[in-house]
Amino acid sequence: MSQHNELKADTSLDETNLRADEAKYCSFGDTVHYVETPPIFARCEGSYMFDAADKPYLDLQMWYSAVNFGYSNPRLNDALKKQVDTLPQTASQYLHPTKIRLAKAIAEDMKCKFSLPGRVHFNVGGAQCIEDSLKIVRNATGGKSLMFAFEGGYHGRTLGASSITSSYRYRRRYGHFGDRAHFIPFPYPFRRPKNMTAEEYGEHCVNEFARLFETEYNGVWDPKGGQAEYAAFYVEPIQGTGGYVVPPKNFFIGLKKVLDRYGILLVVDEIQMGFYRTGKLWSIEHFGVTPDILVFAKALTNGMNPLGGLWAREELINPTIFPPGSTHSTFASNPLGTALGLEVFEMLQETDYEKMVTEKGAYFLEGLRDLQKRHKEIGDVDGLGLALRAEICADDGFTPNKALLDKMVDIGLAGDLDWQGKKVGLILDVGGYYKNVITLAPSLHISTAEIDQGLALLDQALTRAKRT
Ligand SMILES: Cc1ncc(COP(=O)(O)O)c(C=O)c1O
Repeated sequence: MSQHNELKADTSLDETNLRADEAKYCSFGDTVHYVETPPIFARCEGSYMFDAADKPYLDLQMWYSAVNFGYSNPRLNDALKKQVDTLPQTASQYLHPTKIRLAKAIAEDMKCKFSLPGRVHFNVGGAQCIEDSLKIVRNATGGKSLMFAFEGGYHGRTLGASSITSSYRYRRRYGHFGDRAHFIPFPYPFRRPKNMTAEEYGEHCVNEFARLFETEYNGVWDPKGGQAEYAAFYVEPIQGTGGYVVPPKNFFIGLKKVLDRYGILLVVDEIQMGFYRTGKLWSIEHFGVTPDILVFAKALTNGMNPLGGLWAREELINPTIFPPGSTHSTFASNPLGTALGLEVFEMLQETDYEKMVTEKGAYFLEGLRDLQKRHKEIGDVDGLGLALRAEICADDGFTPNKALLDKMVDIGLAGDLDWQGKKVGLILDVGGYYKNVITLAPSLHISTAEIDQGLALLDQALTRAKRT
């Protein structure tokens, strides 16, 4: 058979052949092989992925919060199909209506919430938009290249984004590209010092940060020149990969006061927590501070197009300071992505997502608290909206137990859990400093019945994992 015919004939979902070909032809440099036998999925709908035998796997992480509005969301799928039939392609140096309308929707929302004029800039995916934000920060601060970021923070794996992501693991093999951020502790309420309330701990973390500016000898501030060596602080308001850690309410207010005092920009990364994951369009809205730059991606297109973007204050991004050609990608602001993004924004205006997500989140969290009462290995449960965490520990309820959670993940992916007499699977994401946190990001459209199913499957998976 010619190679052409072989490619055409090979449309089956013959798992044995596919796995052999994957082992031979696919790079293992992505994250697929984090689990021993990654499942091969054939289709998806709502809160579920389906394998070749059409067995459902309840997804409680929705592609790391990229698919907030459910798999194969009919309205968003239709918007994509409509755009395919009208203007599927345009070189990114030309204009098209949905790009302009989407930018306007985001900028007007920011103006309304934060009383600041600004502009929106698009690019392909989260890390690339982080790269663009680094350019804007460096450009607006006279080329300062040093950033603050948080321990436990994650901003992507391109070279620039890895330099402000706390894990050395992502940099170890590749040398440095630009300067590594100065990583500052993020208040982690479950593991706070015993003698402090969560708020006292938040205040303590702010004071420790402020201490860096006390004298020139602390290393980041020149009192004579009135200049900080650092240009911006990159924050995830709720840490995503870091384990869905929700900081105390007073923390960001205190932090922003320090940043304002020393002229340091606040860049908010909403790539994982944006689009109502936490019950607000942007998670920073819970914390009473105003960003200078806000970066978003993932659920902007419900995960159907790798479009991301950023909003920046007019002073940082106006055409004089950030002129044409400052960044470019062939696929930046591609019309399929911007049409989807616009439809997402229209959908958000028509439904009260704040109420819906807050209510569903409270119901899910209540169920997790109940589960915690029955399993002493669940050391902590917490969350904001439908960004929820369950921390898996040893039976002292505190010592991180990654091995037990790894077993739960494998059990879920094996598709052998029982639901009303049928075999089903469960898809979980693992996060946290000790990789012992179930970071739950279900579809924002998840039903109460599906939440109940999720809680029952978590119960089963944990019970089985403890037995093995
Ligand atoms: C908070 C945050 N920032 C940045 C990124 C990087 O986005 P992408 O994977 O689209 O490059 C991610 C991805 O998980 C993220 O969660």
